[in-house]
Amino acid sequence: MKILITGGDGFCGWPTSLHLSSKGHDIHIIDNLSRRAIATALNYESLTNIYSIHERIEKWYELTGRSISFSNINVAENYAALQSEIASFNPECIVHLAAQRSAPYSMMSVDSGNYTLSNNVLTTNNVLKAITEHNRAIKFVHLGSIGVYGYEDRDFEIAEGKTHFSGCDKNNRPYSLKAQIPFNPTSIYHLSKSQITSLLNFYTRNYGLNITDLYQGIVWGTQTSETNIAPELSNRFDYDEIYGTVLNRFVVQAQSGLPITVYGRGEQTRAFIHIQDTVRCIETAVNSGATHSGDVDVMHQIAETRTVKSVADHVAKLVHGSIKHVVNPRDEEEEHRYILENTKFKQLGLSQLNTLGDNLLDEIQNVVDKNLHRIDQTCIDPKVQWGKVSQKPDNECAVKRVGKTPAKSAARPALQAAAMG
Ligand SMILES: NC(=O)c1ccc[n+]([C@@H]2O[C@H](COP(=O)([O-])OP(=O)(O)OC[C@H]3O[C@@H](n4cnc5c(N)ncnc54)[C@H](O)[C@@H]3O)[C@@H](O)[C@H]2O)c1
Repeated sequence: MKILITGGDGFCGWPTSLHLSSKGHDIHIIDNLSRRAIATALNYESLTNIYSIHERIEKWYELTGRSISFSNINVAENYAALQSEIASFNPECIVHLAAQRSAPYSMMSVDSGNYTLSNNVLTTNNVLKAITEHNRAIKFVHLGSIGVYGYEDRDFEIAEGKTHFSGCDKNNRPYSLKAQIPFNPTSIYHLSKSQITSLLNFYTRNYGLNITDLYQGIVWGTQTSETNIAPELSNRFDYDEIYGTVLNRFVVQAQSGLPITVYGRGEQTRAFIHIQDTVRCIETAVNSGATHSGDVDVMHQIAETRTVKSVADHVAKLVHGSIKHVVNPRDEEEEHRYILENTKFKQLGLSQLNTLGDNLLDEIQNVVDKNLHRIDQTCIDPKVQWGKVSQKPDNECAVKRVGKTPAKSAARPALQAAAMG
């Protein structure tokens, strides 16, 4: 199949590109390399050494004989270039991963929030619009976030997609409708993902597009069977306060002899999935054919849910680390239930996803061990705060950085670089 992958240089996009290429698909990547530009601007680099997109692609070709093509296009801002790429590559499927994906980044300042909103919504709208103009049969797979549901206490199972609601109006007339449960995003990033779901519904309803939306949990792990083949193919590993996901930060802290810092009591529930399973799930979604419901096909891309504290305990036990609770910089209930329906991937034949209890944590430990000399300990503690704990009267988040370029001015070159791509 001819598959166009937007954001194919990113943490999920690069391993996905290699995995689908290894399965014989013809892959074309579009990426404006803005994630690399943001890392440089923030001075928060990947712990693993990542090679340029050209070196990555060349090495893959040398080792496997499979070619992957690449175009540097800003999907949010250069519709004409996107349109002409789609016309010339003529994909059967588009996997849309181009986004600014960090919640803390989106809460740093008004600029970073606006950038996240416009970038994420406009990249998606442009791709969907281009599909309507080129070929409405192109399958569209988007990687959304399970975080759109918010982090309040919900003691019922959240359905994958729409569910039936019934009630009575004020005149006591009964009604019933089919809808998704209301979203409750707690960051501008998650708000952008919530807005994208409206876009996807709009294009499904009005243009009959074939859309799968994968609500993904926090991705952990670094390498997949393909990125592991050579150093040039390595995936990125982020452990900083802005892009580092919880498990990466915990392992880096524990292996550097620092206490594992848990935000608040740590009773917040989160959903997790390993990067190797992310690529398998995307492959399954790509192959899943057309939806026949007339609705966006929503699937929960998760392997398990756990409290943050249980993740910390697990890492502390394995690495013999200590745990320290710090003030939660985020606005969220610190103890809540979160029950997510998780059946659609199983129905498509994908079961037995990896969980944190499996041996895969060794892989992260190895990555960290090999790169101990590259760890910047000053980038781990949270400096971006938002929600109820924000100290600033103007609703901008308190951003305090130690020994580095101030985050707000650092973000600007990244935004400019993103706009140039
Ligand atoms: N990593 C996670 O834990 C996680 C969890 C849930 C959902 N997701 C979603 O998965 C998708 C991929 O996330 P990721 O972790 O790979 O992020 P990433 O930042 O590593 O990758 C995103 C890629 O998109 C590119 N990009 C951004 N804006 C672009 C634009 N305007 N034009 C062209 N390219 C652009 C970036 O350069 C980057 O290479 C995102 O939609 C994200 O919201 C990620």
